[in-house]
Amino acid sequence: PVRVLTGIKPSGTPHLGNYVGAIRPTVRASRQPQVDSFLFLADYHAMISTQDPARLQRSTLEIAATWIACGLDPQRVTFYRQSDVPEIPELTWFLTCVCGKGLLNRAHAYKAMLDKNAAAGAEPDDGVSAGLFMYPVLMAADILMFNAHQVPVGRDQVQHIEMARDMASSFNHLYGEHFTLPEAVIEDSVATLPGLDGRKMSKSYDNVIPLFAPREQLRKLIMGIVTDSKAPGEPKATEGSALFQIYQAFATPEETAALARAYAEGIAWGEAKEVLFERIDREITPMRATYEELMAHPERVEAILQAGAAKARAVASPFIRQLRHAVGLRPLQ
Ligand code: TYM
Repeated sequence: PVRVLTGIKPSGTPHLGNYVGAIRPTVRASRQPQVDSFLFLADYHAMISTQDPARLQRSTLEIAATWIACGLDPQRVTFYRQSDVPEIPELTWFLTCVCGKGLLNRAHAYKAMLDKNAAAGAEPDDGVSAGLFMYPVLMAADILMFNAHQVPVGRDQVQHIEMARDMASSFNHLYGEHFTLPEAVIEDSVATLPGLDGRKMSKSYDNVIPLFAPREQLRKLIMGIVTDSKAPGEPKATEGSALFQIYQAFATPEETAALARAYAEGIAWGEAKEVLFERIDREITPMRATYEELMAHPERVEAILQAGAAKARAVASPFIRQLRHAVGLRPLQ
């Protein structure tokens, strides 16, 4: 079987970008007979950007409920919290010691902070925690702990997977073949979902559409997506249209072709937004009901996560024992 693994940071309410970029493809893949899926909540990663304990807990519950509502079958897959698996931070240290600092200097997220500081005339590392710098190592540990073959992610995460491959090779080279080299899997049509302002939908740009926004709020947000100022009747370009790209991520190819024709025929922006709203709402409504039910019963979500943690540790704990032996550490207990 192919082992597929992916994580999502509980650092805010899940949005449509997370859904089309990670949740939906992963849930679909996890239903295939040949696939052994590991899905987790990257709460240690979330600590890098969220220092609000209540928010971290709330967000963990929301994201867990989201995955389950989106059709994840906790019986079939291994679904867990990163922080319920203490072997992961231990492996992070092993990888830290084989990861060149120069590799981390090249990480996009870190470089973006340096650029921002340079533009503001600040010290290069202002506001950069060692946690942010180490982000890719923790992520490599997530992946390598379970020897995942495939890691379905959005395009922004591809560099991190390449770094995980690098760390796996270095470790294998030094200590023997312990790790599988993971590969990123990107769904091309939905690689980067734009947000309300046309930039990548992201918590950090404050341009997100929450996945389970109530119907009326969903409509309102969709009505606020940027468009150009072409009047009704004037042909519209699909190229560069955030609205069109979001529609494409939800619709069938036939539906997408129909909207492209409507654009050429000069559909009014208000009407196009209505079409988008109805399409998204149709997909989301049944899941929203399950989500609300789970949010009202957090103990059900917790029981699922605990069962998942036990399954994850059944893999992680013998493997870390093997790795401790490989690097020359004493076996625990
Ligand atoms: P995170 O929580 O930022 O995002 C979760 C997943 O959603 C994808 N994504 C998007 N895809 C398309 N369009 C968008 N606008 C969009 N926004 C987000 C992300 O690419 C990601 O796949 N570092 C990861 C979490 C993580 C992880 C891992 C993933 C930790 N360890 C190990 C895979 C394997 C992150 O911050 O994702």
